[in-house]
Amino acid sequence: MIRFEAVSKSFAGDAAVDRLDLTIEAGEFTVLIGRSGSGKTTTLKMINRLIEHDGGRILFGGKNIREFRPEALRRRMGYAIQSHGLFPHWTVEQNIGTVPSLLGWTKARIRERTHELLELLHLPADAFAARYPHQLSGGQQQRVGVARALAADPDVLLMDEPFGALDPVTRLALQAELTRIHRLSGKTIVMVTHDIDEALRLGSRIVLLDRGHLVQQGSPASLLAAPANDFVRDFIGRSDIGIRLLGLGVVRDRARPGETTGGDPLPASATLREALSAFVTRQVRTLPVVDAKGEPAGVLHFADLLGTTG
Ligand SMILES: Nc1ncnc2c1ncn2[C@@H]1O[C@H](COP(=O)(O)OP(=O)(O)OP(=O)(O)O)[C@@H](O)[C@H]1O
Ligand SMILES: [Mg+2]
Repeated sequence: MIRFEAVSKSFAGDAAVDRLDLTIEAGEFTVLIGRSGSGKTTTLKMINRLIEHDGGRILFGGKNIREFRPEALRRRMGYAIQSHGLFPHWTVEQNIGTVPSLLGWTKARIRERTHELLELLHLPADAFAARYPHQLSGGQQQRVGVARALAADPDVLLMDEPFGALDPVTRLALQAELTRIHRLSGKTIVMVTHDIDEALRLGSRIVLLDRGHLVQQGSPASLLAAPANDFVRDFIGRSDIGIRLLGLGVVRDRARPGETTGGDPLPASATLREALSAFVTRQVRTLPVVDAKGEPAGVLHFADLLGTTG
């Protein structure tokens, strides 16, 4: 769907992105990670031509992006920028409705869509639709930025640290919401973060950049199981790799069905990392598991955390 072929970009002679080859399949959730200044934002902005690349080529749906008018490209790609970038003199509703109005939607349809998105992002429309950006907290502005990116239901979402300014609880809730949107819609998402746990939680594919170079790419499990070099190992947190691997597994897959035991149950959807924490804090070796309806779903044994597949 999106393909980088030896793409480069320099600013004043310094390469921000250096001969990058990258293929993003339709429906994939790609996360770009790397340290500050590694070229993540530059890579993202080259996709919708907010930054023009100066070497190689970028294809969208098989066609060189230079053959699209930039506005046409941007209408097909929702974009949430690192610092929300809302129009200060427009209300929240007008901000979210930017692309829909360009596309000629009726007022009623824009209003309906805006309100639906505000609810989705935990901002009640009654309280927020008529406000101006300066009347919102940083995290609320970010959420409006995400709603604006989603507004016209684009096939591609480009998101630059969309949850950077949020507290951990809201952040987790919105990560879950984004995962749900991705599952239901099959959208192609490219997201930038420098939070490795966020990358592992959300990405179906992770792309690690360093000084404009691609260091390693692959599924979360492949990155954790086989880091290509010391840089990757350091980046994913050498001493926490085991814990993070547990974070990719789910209780459901390790519970022994049919068994029962006492105690406060774990949801079958919890990660094995959460289960480990429960074993340690409660000082037990077995924990009962319940499904989404609260029905017993077997027992998780501490020893089974090791599993057979890691
Ligand atoms: N408009 C610009 N003019 C000059 N240099 C730039 C410009 N934009 C980016 N750069 C440089 O290009 C490099 C990559 O920047 P980029 O914004 O892509 O990094 P990043 O990975 O998104 O970093 P961060 O995590 O801090 O957002 C940096 O060295 C930066 O200083
Ligand atoms: Mg950036």
